[in-house]
Amino acid sequence: MTLIDGKQTAKEIKEELKVKVAKLKAQDHPVPHLAAILVGNDGGSVTYVNAKVKACAYVGMESTLITYDDQVMEKTLLDKIEELNNDDNISGFIVQLPLPKHIDERKITLAISPSKDVDGFHPENVGRMSLGLPAFVSATPNGILELLKRHEIPTEGKDCVVIGRSSIVGTPMSILLSRNTPTGNATVTLVHSRTKKLEEICKRADIIIAAIGKPHFVKAEMVKEGAVVIDVGTTRVEDNTKKSGFKLYGDVDFETVSKKVSFISPVPGGVGPMTIASLLLNTYKACVQSSDKLSIPQK
Ligand code: GUN
Repeated sequence: MTLIDGKQTAKEIKEELKVKVAKLKAQDHPVPHLAAILVGNDGGSVTYVNAKVKACAYVGMESTLITYDDQVMEKTLLDKIEELNNDDNISGFIVQLPLPKHIDERKITLAISPSKDVDGFHPENVGRMSLGLPAFVSATPNGILELLKRHEIPTEGKDCVVIGRSSIVGTPMSILLSRNTPTGNATVTLVHSRTKKLEEICKRADIIIAAIGKPHFVKAEMVKEGAVVIDVGTTRVEDNTKKSGFKLYGDVDFETVSKKVSFISPVPGGVGPMTIASLLLNTYKACVQSSDKLSIPQK
């Protein structure tokens, strides 16, 4: 069994980006600048957004963190989004999800300019991605493809099962894996809460992407000998023996599943760091694309 080390792969991507950003700076090119809007103080969201900001600094990018309490009005957020859309200093920005119930996430996502939507959540980017047109691809599925590619795990002709149909992970993942591209060409089955014989379907898979958000949902008896398993789950479970007060659980029962597989990504240290690396890649791309539009020469 080979452990898919997302932390190490993300570090490699960040080192590559560090060089590219330094090159931009040496050419007096605008530096990629990510803004992140964080609403409330959900533990997971705070941790992720802080990690995104820290990662920007590591690769030499700029970042701006904008925080609101969880009572913030939708209009205030929409106004801030409008401001960021029109701010030439900002290459791209994200609004960390989930948002409080009184805020319409769809309305917020739609308000973000597709050219600055480095999360790839705007319907225009989702549509373009589905059609194989240039687009910002959402960070987690893109990070998973990068993990597969950099571990030389082929997808062509493979039976892939994606567990979970969220807009952020499961749905785009299933589209990307089935597209006619070097990291696609798989035969994809998307399974979810209404799927019959889910265990049987998983058992046939060469590659399983578990993104259902249920701790240890994937058990050894659901996995074929020698399969590749990617765990996207990050459920926090209270654990007083930990300094943080919680333990992070993946969607895969790592203990038992790891004994059967050829490759497996752990939680933590698997997909999570790759999501952040992908976001940085998208921010770099947004910066270069906007400069191209403004005709800033690239030497
Ligand atoms: N919540 C969970 N994952 C993500 C992500 O990739 N981007 C944003 N904006 N919110 C999230």
